[in-house]
Amino acid sequence: MTLDRDTLIAAAREAAGKAYAPYSRFQVGAALAFADGTVVTGANVENASYGLSLCAETVAAASAMNAGLRGGLEAVALIAGAAATVTPCGRCRQVLNELAQLGGTDPVIWCAGGPEVLEVRLSQLLPHAFGPGNLSAG
Ligand code: THU
Repeated sequence: MTLDRDTLIAAAREAAGKAYAPYSRFQVGAALAFADGTVVTGANVENASYGLSLCAETVAAASAMNAGLRGGLEAVALIAGAAATVTPCGRCRQVLNELAQLGGTDPVIWCAGGPEVLEVRLSQLLPHAFGPGNLSAG
């Protein structure tokens, strides 16, 4: 692990400040740490058609994949501006799983915002995940 927990959480916190969340006013930031030291961040992007809103983790994962990253996801930090622990929603667990499975990692997820940081593995949040491997398994 090239980055420590608090550094990655700080990156997520900074990202949260870039959220576009005029409807929920719930600003979320995510930071993804990769084995090569790369950190990619994202914040939620809401839409007047509420259901189309994008979560911070999804924005970060899409950004990472657009930067050419296809694996090596080692850690994820997540924080909301509100003083409460935020855990990845179901869709984001699946989106993160794509990057994780591509590189054969099981990233640690640090969920911050509350009094204590919740530390879990993606496989705990999304057991028996469906991913790219399922499509190629004969
Ligand atoms: N949100 C995230 O960005 N990540 C999550 O994992 C949970 C929810 C955002 C979506 C929406 O813009 C706001 O938080 C309120 O649900």
